[in-house]
Amino acid sequence: MNITAIKGMNDILPGEVETWQFLEQTAREVFSAFGFSEIRTPVPEKTELFCRSIGETTDIVEKEMYTFDDKSNHSMTLRPEGTAPVMRSFIQNRLYNLDSVSKLYYLGPMFRYERPQKGRYRQFHQIGAEVIGVEDAKIDAQVLVMLWQYFIRIGIESVSLQVNSLGCPVCRPGYRDRLIGYLESRLDKLCSECQRRYLSNPLRVLDCKVETCKEATVDAPAVIEHLCTNCGEHFSQVKDYLARLKIPFVVNARMVRGLDYYVRTTFELVTDQLGSQNAVAAGGRYDGLVESLGGPALPGIGFAIGLERLVLMKGEQRATPGVPMLFIAAMGTEAIDRAFSLMSQLQVNGIRTEMDYQGKSLKAQMRRANKLNAAFTLILGAEEMASGQAQLKNMSNSTQELVTLDSLAEALTEKLGEAYTSA
Ligand code: HAM
Repeated sequence: MNITAIKGMNDILPGEVETWQFLEQTAREVFSAFGFSEIRTPVPEKTELFCRSIGETTDIVEKEMYTFDDKSNHSMTLRPEGTAPVMRSFIQNRLYNLDSVSKLYYLGPMFRYERPQKGRYRQFHQIGAEVIGVEDAKIDAQVLVMLWQYFIRIGIESVSLQVNSLGCPVCRPGYRDRLIGYLESRLDKLCSECQRRYLSNPLRVLDCKVETCKEATVDAPAVIEHLCTNCGEHFSQVKDYLARLKIPFVVNARMVRGLDYYVRTTFELVTDQLGSQNAVAAGGRYDGLVESLGGPALPGIGFAIGLERLVLMKGEQRATPGVPMLFIAAMGTEAIDRAFSLMSQLQVNGIRTEMDYQGKSLKAQMRRANKLNAAFTLILGAEEMASGQAQLKNMSNSTQELVTLDSLAEALTEKLGEAYTSA
């Protein structure tokens, strides 16, 4: 039996990877213009990190983590998200000593044991950004401007920004009790999962995808109607700044996030193009997180973008993998040897060159040159070996010119721009 990839974990093949590289490169450019530096943390972390930050009663921690014991019986988990590892590293490496504001971004694979479907995978990739050290609502707006700008730069504009505020340790407990009371009054209408979790994690009930739960909770109390003065003020400022910066948004009072560390501002960028997996990016504030993990009492805010979902939205058209500038077709041992050294020399000089390695006929070699879409071809046979010259053929307009083999690299370097514009 053939060995295949693990369910829900995908290869990214040539032809697709170019889209990924574009999305990653654009993130680096946009984020660095906003003053963010990259941080890379290990893929596995101690399991406790995620239990303490994401929350014991969340779906991620309860059901979705790739957790295993290593050979010394230490429990480790493949990171299901990037915020907790970045905070762990921030505290461990005392990055707060470098500046009063830390702006960090990361990209890489995350792991969640979810039921795979279009847009939802078990290994998926996020590009995330985090700002630690600022409570002011200006930074909430700035993070959202950066996210918005990224979507403009990658050419995906069919997304809408939804924002909400989840309150803080001052106002959330009162709201939570109210919500529990409300849910209790209609417990028999909730799904078994919500009946189980309405006491431990009542906010999650508002996010349940089961139709009957949605119907039963249409008039549930909204957290933004129960914010304390400080949280209410903060949320108004965030909305004012967004309006001033001309970032369109809607308030979604039912938005709760699947991770427990959020307080105050939360947001999602949603699309109607991906069916039920409609969030292409999401994030929010986590003001108590750094302190709860043993660091200083610093506020934080950030987001993560789901790369697979962006790739799906960019369309499934395959980009053309890089086209060779030159294909050398050679016949006869001596010519093949010369073709091999010419090719190596050109490649060292940065000129993408291909040849045949399998002793194919000239006709078959030319067929391959056409298939690869080579900009130029060069045929080497006994005659060319004797004269030291060969015809360099421009494949887009079929013109030929005689070149000296010893100066092939120079001739091609001169044509670099021309070859790719005329091809
Ligand atoms: P999240 O909402 O769990 O937040 O994930 C962020 C994004 O990752 C989602 O909106 C989605 O695009 C993508 N995503 C999540 N799970 C999957 C999956 N199974 N398959 C494909 N894509 C997926 C976080 O992870 C937070 N750490 C975001 C954050 C950063 N909050 C503050 N800072």
